Amino acid sequence: CGIVGYVGSSTALDVVIAGLQRLEYRGYDSAGVAVQTRGADGQWSLATDKRAGKLANLEKSLAEVPLPGGTTGIGHTRWATHGGPTDANAHPHLDDTERVAVVHNGIIENFAQLRAEIAERGHTLRSETDTEVVAHLLGEAYEGDLAEAMRVVCRQLDGAFTLVAVHADAPDVVVGARRNSPLVVGRGEGENFLASDVAAFIAYTREAIELGQDQVVELRRDGVTVTNFDGSPAEVREYHVDWDASAAEKGGYDYFMLKEIAEQPKAVADTLLGRIGTDGRLTLDELRISDADLRTVDKVVIVACGTAFHAGMIAKYAIEHWTRVPCEVEVASEFRYRDPILDDRTLVIAISQSGETMDTLMALRHAREQGAKVLAICNTNGSTIPRESDAVLYTHAGPEVAVASTKAFLTQLVACYLVALYLGQVRGTKWGDEISAVIRELGDAPKQVEQVLETMEPVRELARSLADAKSVLFLGRHVGFPVALEGALKLKELAYMHAEGFAAGELKHGPIALIEDGLPVVVVVPSPRGRSILHDKIVSNIQEIRARGARTIVIAEEGDEAVVPYADHLIRIPATPTLLQPLVSTVPLQVFACELATAKGHEVDQPRNLAKSVTVE
Ligand code: G6P
Repeated sequence: CGIVGYVGSSTALDVVIAGLQRLEYRGYDSAGVAVQTRGADGQWSLATDKRAGKLANLEKSLAEVPLPGGTTGIGHTRWATHGGPTDANAHPHLDDTERVAVVHNGIIENFAQLRAEIAERGHTLRSETDTEVVAHLLGEAYEGDLAEAMRVVCRQLDGAFTLVAVHADAPDVVVGARRNSPLVVGRGEGENFLASDVAAFIAYTREAIELGQDQVVELRRDGVTVTNFDGSPAEVREYHVDWDASAAEKGGYDYFMLKEIAEQPKAVADTLLGRIGTDGRLTLDELRISDADLRTVDKVVIVACGTAFHAGMIAKYAIEHWTRVPCEVEVASEFRYRDPILDDRTLVIAISQSGETMDTLMALRHAREQGAKVLAICNTNGSTIPRESDAVLYTHAGPEVAVASTKAFLTQLVACYLVALYLGQVRGTKWGDEISAVIRELGDAPKQVEQVLETMEPVRELARSLADAKSVLFLGRHVGFPVALEGALKLKELAYMHAEGFAAGELKHGPIALIEDGLPVVVVVPSPRGRSILHDKIVSNIQEIRARGARTIVIAEEGDEAVVPYADHLIRIPATPTLLQPLVSTVPLQVFACELATAKGHEVDQPRNLAKSVTVE
């Protein structure tokens, strides 16, 4: 979910709605606002509106029946957990007196018990949400100090939550609380902001404060006070956001996704910037794990979700090949529940664009409890995952707004390669020469991604022609296998089509039964140079599926002539070292999925049921 709070002298509703527009990627099942307003009689009250569906529904309702003006307000855009996406379940939630309004992100795990207790005390609950209990509890706890009431309530709650509240009796005050879910403060002149991420207020200020775990913040026009749940003063980190509002706008593109695909050469270049020295060696000063510690690492474990997990799968090939250190990769949601074997010689790498994915956060906490060192690869400054890790390597993709990840994925790959190469460099493995060569070639990646983007028209045309396909399969070997998984994931997310990725060699062990006449199958072909056996094997796989009627869409390196006879459609990518190929081979798959979804009339930036930042487990 996305949360915004504002106190200042502008019209709160305008600021809150503008903020919600920038946070809608976090959830778009329903949206709502509450503003403090003062009647002709001088009395304060809360005016609210909330609607199921996208933010546009709320905006329409507000246009029809405008809310009275006010300069303090809160807003919410929801990804439903408890209770379906209805008007009643939309946030804000109010207590019986309608004097307190609250918005929430996360799950309050003891809500059933709290709900029963509240009902017993005579309150009427009007929604099925876990959030509404907080409104009633705040109403009960309020004795003239909203921040204190929030602290009292938070101490009764279990689970993950960001809460933001206003009270009609506390004009010009917004209070927020944070446990395990994101919340940042934006500091302005005579106005202050609260939001799930800085994008919500970047048009007003780039000065931010990162809140810590179990903290309550009180926002007034001229000040921000942060305390811990027990009331003691809290330590916070102030930081300056290094991108501006234009980075979070569509900039002439129809969709954020198209813009973000196009930004990939720059994103890759920015992530490499300053990390490759003139002597061709890597410097990762920010790593905060000493070279000596890196030399003692005897196992690497990568945890991540969704697209980031695919980046992790590719990293495994690179880490094991360049460093000879064993590497496991696991979806973060499975990790801690199987009692993984970890100790102080294990390096855990947590990959996350948002830095807020709860599954990944819980995995890294578990790893640290077992004594492992955790390195975060993350795109969001001030987010929870890097804060709680021993070290962080930031991907400099800039804000990624489209729900389906593109530029963040490519930069995650770059960061993974950098870590793998750096590990190889400090450990002095037998791949020394290869490592230097790859470091040089990595520098060419931005140019090569650009080259791929320039040749995408036939891919778009092909995608449009497949809008009615029932299913698409993706095959790859070696690092092409995770690329195939990523191609399939993109198509599922955006086009709601059955799509599956397979290791091409595994096909004959079952999935080949799916091949029928005309079934589109995308095959990612490894370079014929270097690992040529691998290449030859996949050429055989292409022949096998073609013989069974598949329509083959082949992604192969320039100059690879062996595939030509078996490719119904041929997509060329520049020649790269095998391990780096995903940087170029993923791009056509992103373009393919985006165009196919658009042809089906889907809104690619906000696919149904998804959210970009999933802050529940
Ligand atoms: C969500 C998004 C995916 C994303 C995954 C991990 O499920 O819909 O696109 O890959 O989370 O997100 P993260 O921010 O941790 O990289």
